[in-house]
This record gives sequence, C-alpha cells and structure tokens, in this order.
Amino acid sequence: MQKKWKPLKGPQTDALKSKADILFYGGAAGGGKTDLLIGAAHTQHTRSIIFRREYPQLRAIIDRTMELLCEQGKYNKSSLVWALEDGRNIEFGAVQHIGDERKYQGRPHDLKAFDELTHFTEMQFRTLCGWLRSADANQRCRVIATGNPPTDSEGEWIIRFFAPWLDKTYPHPAKPKELRWFTTLEGKDKEVENGKSFRFKGELIVPKSRTFIPAHVEDNPYYMESGYKSTLQALPEPLRSKLLYGDFGVDREDNPYQLIPTEWLEQAILRYETRNTQATLSCIGVDVARGGNDKTVLTLRYENWFEVQRVYPGSSTRTGDVVAQLVLAARGTSHCKVHVDVIGVGSSVFDSLRRIMGNSVIAMNSAQASDAKDKSGQLGFVNKRAEWWWYLRETLDPASGNGVALPNDRELLSDLAAPRWRLTVRGIQVEAKDSIIRRIGRSPDKGDSLVYANAIEQVAGSGFLDYYGGMVE
Ligand SMILES: Nc1ncnc2c1ncn2[C@@H]1O[C@H](COP(=O)(O)OP(=O)(O)OP(=O)(O)O)[C@@H](O)[C@H]1O
Ligand SMILES: [Mg+2]
Repeated sequence: MQKKWKPLKGPQTDALKSKADILFYGGAAGGGKTDLLIGAAHTQHTRSIIFRREYPQLRAIIDRTMELLCEQGKYNKSSLVWALEDGRNIEFGAVQHIGDERKYQGRPHDLKAFDELTHFTEMQFRTLCGWLRSADANQRCRVIATGNPPTDSEGEWIIRFFAPWLDKTYPHPAKPKELRWFTTLEGKDKEVENGKSFRFKGELIVPKSRTFIPAHVEDNPYYMESGYKSTLQALPEPLRSKLLYGDFGVDREDNPYQLIPTEWLEQAILRYETRNTQATLSCIGVDVARGGNDKTVLTLRYENWFEVQRVYPGSSTRTGDVVAQLVLAARGTSHCKVHVDVIGVGSSVFDSLRRIMGNSVIAMNSAQASDAKDKSGQLGFVNKRAEWWWYLRETLDPASGNGVALPNDRELLSDLAAPRWRLTVRGIQVEAKDSIIRRIGRSPDKGDSLVYANAIEQVAGSGFLDYYGGMVE
C-alpha cells in the first residue's frame, strides 16, 4: 500500500489543522495549494468535492490524484469520483457557466474544496458552500479554498470576503491563521465577536469562522529544488509580486475619493525605522473616548516622527482628571503642546489640563469654522476637521518631502485611509465621523488622535507667531 499524503511543514500543515469553517489558503504560486485540497480530502474527510471553474482545468488535479491514490481506490472517469478502499469519496466538479452551481444542489459533502477561487463568482461560491453537511455527526464539515491573488476586479469579492486579512483598510485587521466569526444578516456579511449562536428577527443565527493562511513557494521543498522560484522571479510586474509573494495589495486601487492614499501611508511606515534621535517632543494629540467601547488615544509627535500610540479603554478613562494624568505622565518634563479634542467628554479633560498646564493646552473643536487655505492657497475648508485632515494629507504627500514617519499599526493605517473627501462651494469637506463609523463599524480614534497631534493650531487670542514663539504658559 502507498504511503498516506502528509502536509509540508509550515503553512500547509497549519492550513490542514486550522479549525476555520472557511479557510482561504492563498498567495504565492507553487505553495502547495492544490495538494492541500487533495490531502485534506484524502486524510480528513469522507465525502469531498473539489471544484475548478472549468472541467479542462481539473486535468492536473486528477493527474495528481492518480499519482497519490492509484493504489488506494478506484477512479470513475465518467462520474469523476474516486471511491477509496477506506470508504472515502473524492469527487471533482466544475461550474463553467453561471447557474451551473445549481447542478450541485442538495448534494451534501463534508469538504467543499475550491481550487483557484478567484475564477469563481461570489454567487457560485456562496451557493456551492450551501450543501455543506454530513450524515455523521462526528464528521467535521469545512470549506477550503485556494488561490493566487486576483489579477482583475472580478476577484475583488475575495478581498471583501476575507477582508480582515486582505483588505488593508479593514478596521480590525487579523493575523494569518487567526479565526474570525461572520454571519450573513439580511444579505450582508457582518463580523461578530465569537461563534456563539444568537437570535436575529426570530431566527437562530450560527456564526461561521473564517481564516486566511498565506502560502509561500519557499515552503514547498519540491518546487524550491526545481528552481521554480527563479522562473517566478523572471516574470514582469505586477505578476511577479502576485505569484512570487502572493501579494494581494499589488495594483489594487484606493477609492477615488480616499483622502490620504494608502501608498503614502505605507511609505511613511517604511520610514519609521530612521528616527531622528535628536528630535524633541513637539505635540501630544489626545482623542478622548466617548463611550465604554471607544478608546482614549494619545499620540506623541517628535517633530516628523510619530511614536507608537498609547491606547486606553474608554471604561478606564471616564473622567477628565484620569486622562489629564496620563497626558502629564506622557509629557514628562517636555514643554510640548497638547491638542485635546473638546467635543463631549473631551471638554472636561481640557479643563483639567488647562488648570495644570495653562496655554500650552489647546482645544481642538473640529466643528469650528476654518479660515485656513490649502498649500496651493486656492482652497478653503468647510471646518477645522477638514483643515487638519487635509494638512495631514499634505504632510504625508511624498512630494512635500517632510519625511513623516508613522508606526506600523494596521488599525491606524486603516483609520487614516478611511476618510473620503469632496469639494463643496464652501471648500474641502472631509467625511463626517459618523459616516466613517457607519462604513468601518468603529470609531477611528487612532486616526483622529494622530490628526490632532499633527495639526498646527493657534492658542485662542494669541497670534500665529506666538505658536512658534514657544510656550505661552
Ligand atoms: N504535502 C505534499 N506532499 C508531497 N508533495 C507535495 C506536497 N505539497 C506539494 N507538493 C508538491 O509540490 C507540487 C506543487 O504543489 P501544488 O500544485 O499544490 O502548488 P500550488 O500552490 O497549487 O501551485 P499553483 O500556484 O501553480 O497552482 C505538487 O505537484 C507536489 O509535487
Ligand atoms: Mg494549484
């Protein structure tokens, strides 16, 4: 008898062992993606189906199963089913035309496997996942999909489906292998905290877990020995990065109205290493939590270098005095400015800090009118909020040469990439905080705090020169 298939060390093993209901094992070419599907069917499942979008594309997978399984069962060429001696079945399927997925209706399998997921439509995938069940209560049911990063907009749905891992602007980014729970309510996917079932409009909803595990060609010794890597290296961009590194970010475009391009943010993150150690603390931005679920975030800016942010849960920063103490501790002996958000609870923090630190504490009221102009001197702003956010955009613009450096924090990155803007007759307008919250599902506290730390504000009643003149305490 032939030996059983064993996973390669590293991500292929992690993928096989993953507890996720829906796993996407994706990325670089040659990382052992297709083999994982065959291996999982062969070692962990009793009734499996492996899909490709088109029948001819199944050829290579079927050939590989011939190598692996020929002594362990029989393959029926017309029904495309392996019947293995140990009772397992492995079937192959394709859904070339839209609607073909209905052919598989009511056909239960405990493993639904999709090779090259980017070729399938979202509807096909969701429909085919529908009949995931087993008559045996002890048999685990799961979906495994594999694929290279999408090369066209057709595959964009995968970035949305696995957004916590693949969408750089997702508000709660996840690490590879991490399980995240999702439900589909009223046709929309929603991330929920855990796998506990709950009632929604009378219906019992059971969340399903998803994860993403990146595949790398380096993890496949069979391919590394064959020099396959150099073949990938010779490809033109962006194919090279997509297939060699499985880079899902290459060539994906920002929303045209995104205020700060993701590319600029990434460049600022790359500059983080080179901190100017002579730089002094210039400003602390304070965004105060509005409720228990929000965060209070302190951003320390050393000239053009932003320190990793200090984050405190809203529940532990309920009073102005508590936040004021945190700010005092962060400021130490420095004489830096402190920019405090004063809307709502922030005003009591401002009062506390003003009492202690005097005029170096500046109230940031984003609703206030702005009389500033953009760098070109042509455009005004609807309010202070737009002015400060635009000013951050200008400082991050690689053309400005400011060399601003940001810490590598994906939540901060997604906060800063979140707002959209538009031009109105009153000037530049930046998307309202409430609208961002609706879109990203949380308050962009880290982004706001950083915007405050970056802003240049005058102390009320003093001239612009006073600001640069140093302390007015
Ligand atoms: N667990 C394993 N055991 C033995 N051989 C393996 C294993 N995983 C992968 N291989 C070998 O590596 C080859 C490439 O793997 P596979 O076809 O699964 O990669 P892939 O990620 O699907 O590549 P592509 O991106 O080209 O589709 C397989 O044909 C097989 O020879
Ligand atoms: Mg493959």
